[in-house]
Amino acid sequence: MEHSLIIHAANITTQAAIACIDWVGRGDKNAADGAATDAMRSAFNHVPVSGVVVIGEGEMDEAPMLYIGEQVGSDGYGVDIAVDPLEGTKLCADNAAGAMTTLAIAPRGTLLHAPDMYMDKIAVGAGHADGVIDLDKTPAENVLSVAKSKGVSPKDINVCILDRPRHKDIIDSVRSVGAKITFITDGDVGGVINTVQPDTGIDMYIGRGGAPEGVLAAAALKAVGGQMQGRLFFEDDNDYKRADALGLTDYHQKFNINDMVRSHAIFSATGVTTGTMIQGIVKNAHGFQTQTFIADTMTGNIQYINTHHARKIEALTS
Ligand code: FBP
Repeated sequence: MEHSLIIHAANITTQAAIACIDWVGRGDKNAADGAATDAMRSAFNHVPVSGVVVIGEGEMDEAPMLYIGEQVGSDGYGVDIAVDPLEGTKLCADNAAGAMTTLAIAPRGTLLHAPDMYMDKIAVGAGHADGVIDLDKTPAENVLSVAKSKGVSPKDINVCILDRPRHKDIIDSVRSVGAKITFITDGDVGGVINTVQPDTGIDMYIGRGGAPEGVLAAAALKAVGGQMQGRLFFEDDNDYKRADALGLTDYHQKFNINDMVRSHAIFSATGVTTGTMIQGIVKNAHGFQTQTFIADTMTGNIQYINTHHARKIEALTS
């Protein structure tokens, strides 16, 4: 994939984040999500790719922007597109930490087509031997394995978990070996990516969240040698139908990071509200500033792009 795609990816998530400005703290998560989605869709018009949305805002018959199967881009290299135009819609609506706009681009046919349902996930940062984490082991066993690999006590391991009642058994298991827990209220793409950001102090992510979010996070993690596994969690018949529609036949498959992202990928996220992963949009006297996080599996690099926009926010949103 062309290196210039990085710039295009950063621009797409940046435009989507800017579109959310007026919706931060306004209590309307759907309006915020809609604004991000519209802006992202229109930013794609200028990108020289033949893109197909494989993870998007819904099915074609629901007619949302960026529906699964929609073709985007102005023509060029064939790519798969995964988007979560506003990850953490409630965080944005509540002006809480960690809302961001997200996108992954990979060569055509190489991203897992994850249905809109839950996925059990486990992730760890870089620097461990393959197999250090395993979804089939208990959270406690995984903590002990990562602690051993790091050469530290399990008490020094910090596990990020989405704060949900369904995670009680995971929480109990992690605590049983004395590890620390960092709870997040929403936004597990950021929670997973925090494992490859040493400054966060987070070693692992464990828990059940959206499957589409799992693939987006895997694209970022793969760039820096993090490890991740995911397995779809079926709640009802509709989930089976969703998986069937995407051609998934083995309902119990444990997806490794290379099953979710089978080739190179570029992941881009722009902060809407400041969180541990990335800074949100900041107003200043002359305009505003955005920060974009880019992970590129081709180079193994993570870049932070800080952009000063010399325009008043009011001029954009009025
Ligand atoms: P939205 O941005 O779609 O609101 O998703 C936020 C999120 O926290 C995801 O990061 C996570 O994967 C999922 O919701 C968890 O779902 P639930 O809120 O049902 O536990």
